[in-house]
Parts: sequence; structure tokens; C-alpha cells
Amino acid sequence: MIPRDETGRTPLRLMHADKTRAAPRIMPADAAGIDEAARLLRAGALVAFATETVYGLGADATDAEAVARIFAVKGRPRFNPLIAHLAAPGEAERHARMDAAARRLAEAFWPGPLTLVLPAAEGTPVSPLARAGLASIALRVPAHPVARALLSATGRPVAAPSANRSGRISPTRAAHVAGDLGADVALVLDAGPTGIGVESTIVACLGNAPALLRPGGLPREAIETVLGRPLATREGKAAPLAPGMLASHYAPSAAVRLGAADLRPGEALLGFGPVPFATGDAPVVNLSESGDLVEAAARLFDALHQLDASGARTIAVMPVPEEGLGLAINDRLARAAAPR
Ligand code: TXA
Ligand code: MG
Repeated sequence: MIPRDETGRTPLRLMHADKTRAAPRIMPADAAGIDEAARLLRAGALVAFATETVYGLGADATDAEAVARIFAVKGRPRFNPLIAHLAAPGEAERHARMDAAARRLAEAFWPGPLTLVLPAAEGTPVSPLARAGLASIALRVPAHPVARALLSATGRPVAAPSANRSGRISPTRAAHVAGDLGADVALVLDAGPTGIGVESTIVACLGNAPALLRPGGLPREAIETVLGRPLATREGKAAPLAPGMLASHYAPSAAVRLGAADLRPGEALLGFGPVPFATGDAPVVNLSESGDLVEAAARLFDALHQLDASGARTIAVMPVPEEGLGLAINDRLARAAAPR
């Protein structure tokens, strides 16, 4: 067992001491669970909770020590800034300066799977550590009822990256979080599988043309329709800008072969749409038999988890069309396939 103090926190120095990884406490996301989670967050502990995209590993964003625990548990490079989650859109201007484009996007898409990167306001109580020392701040108002209830009950902005160790697959179920993080998280609030299944879309509104930093659960086209203009793209900019973006992010243990038009010995198949070749008794998960990209996004990380657990050395991935949520899916798959 990993010792904890009275708030349920694991002392930082002990976090990686237990290789067997004790199981975390899991509570259903009912009123009692939300109360307990809010209490733990206010006491500086880490709580994993569902959003409409993926499970987040939450900490009080105004408490630098709590934020440091996130980096420690994730094993995440320090220059990766975190998203501050807010209970309501009206809280945003306390933390950031919003130009006309940012206001329009917040109005149209909050609460929802959109993160805005904005110039930080002077007086924001969000810890600089959560912002990795940047002059900007990432804000999101999630739509999931459990996330909203938890944020209201906590009464503070909550910093929350996806609740997985750095470079691992993002969690879409409480069991993924428990398996990956173990007792390094004080509590997992179980609200069932997440609906969207890929992370939020990130758009920077930093004074110049709004730019897409990360494709995600809100399709680019929907954003461009509201803005009435195409989003700029900031591909290949050197760190610390959009780095959910390190080369081998989202990596399963198995190798990943993209664009598969056949299945080779020893491979597992990640399918999309009808499978036009034989698969024998290989492990197969289809992201969407009918070729529906929304269904595919919701299943993506769960499918990678399942195929990785099958023990196959390589996961062969059928092509996914480069439109709508297909962009975010292909972005994640390309990272999963990156050399490591
Ligand atoms: O759906 C989501 O966004 C989930 C749920 C839990 O809300 N969260 C999530 O967080 O995906 P995370 O930490 O895994 O990804 C946050 C991304 C990182 O790529 C980070 O670099 C970027 O947001 N980011 C945060 N602050 C930024 C800033 N000031 N400038 C540029 N990028 C920033
Ligand atoms: Mg992540």
C-alpha cells in the first residue's frame, strides 16, 4: 500500500515507489461522490473525473503544489501547459483577455469540447506552473454534467490534463484511469464511458488570426463557420506551443502500422468501415462498421487499449478519411505510430 496523509494525498516522493500500483478509490459520480471529489480537490489532492471528451486528472489550478502532483503523476514534461477548466463561461474573463473572435467562439461552443488559448489576465489566480510559465492561458468549460457539477462544487478552476501517464493512451473509462494511474490519484469519479472520446479542439486567439493548435472533438468546419473564415494552422512550431504534440504521444506498447490494406501474421486489426480482407482469428476491433467518424472517435482510445491488451506485436490500422473528426483521429493515430 502507498501511504497517504489525511487528505488522501500520496506524498510526492512516494509516488513511484510502489511498482505493483495499488488500486485507487473509485466512487460513482452521484451527489456523495461529487461532494467528496470537491473536498479532495480543495485539499490539494488529485481527482480523476469524466468530461465529454476524455477523463481528466484534476487538481486545484490555483494550488501550485497540487498542480505539481499532476506533472509528477503523469511524468509529463514541465513545458506542457495545462487546461484550466471552468464551471461557467462567465468566469473566463477573470482569467484571460478575450477578443471578438474568442467571445464569438465561447458564445457558440461553451460549454463544450473547445479549449481557447488566450492572453492571461493579470489577476488570474491560476498558478503559473499550470501555465508552464507562459503569458497565455488555456481555458475550457466542459459540457459533461459531472464535470460541471464538480467544478461548481469545487468553486475553483481545475487544471486537468487527460488522466493518463505521459505518452500513454488517453482514458475514456474509469477503468483505464485506474489501470494506468493506480493509487497515485486520490479518487476516480466513475461516470461511465465518455461520449466524444477524443480531446477538445484547441484554438488560440492571441490577437492575430485564430489558429488551430490541436484538432479534437469539435470539428474544425464548425469553428470556421462561426468565424466566417478559415482557421490558421500552427503546424511544426517549436515547443512550448501545442504540444499534446510530442512525437510518440498516445503510444500503445504494440507497434502501429497505418493505412493497412491487408492483415499480416501476428498483427491485430483496428478496422474502419467494412473490412475487405480476411482476418482469420486475429484480434479485431472496428471503430465503426458503418464508417461513422463520430462513433469512431468515441471508440478510438478504448479500441487501442483493447488491441494493445491482446498482446499483438503490431496493430494494423485501416485508413480513416481526413474530414470532420477524422482529422483528430488520424492525428492521434499518427502519434501512436511515431517512432519511439
Ligand atoms: O479534452 C481535453 O482537452 C482534455 C479534458 C480532460 O479536458 N484535456 C486535455 O489536456 O487533453 P492535455 O493536458 O492532455 O492537453 C492540453 C493541451 C496540451 O497539448 C498543451 O500543450 C495545450 O493544451 N496547451 C495548454 N495551455 C496552452 C498554452 N498556453 N498555449 C498553447 N498550448 C497550450
Ligand atoms: Mg493528453
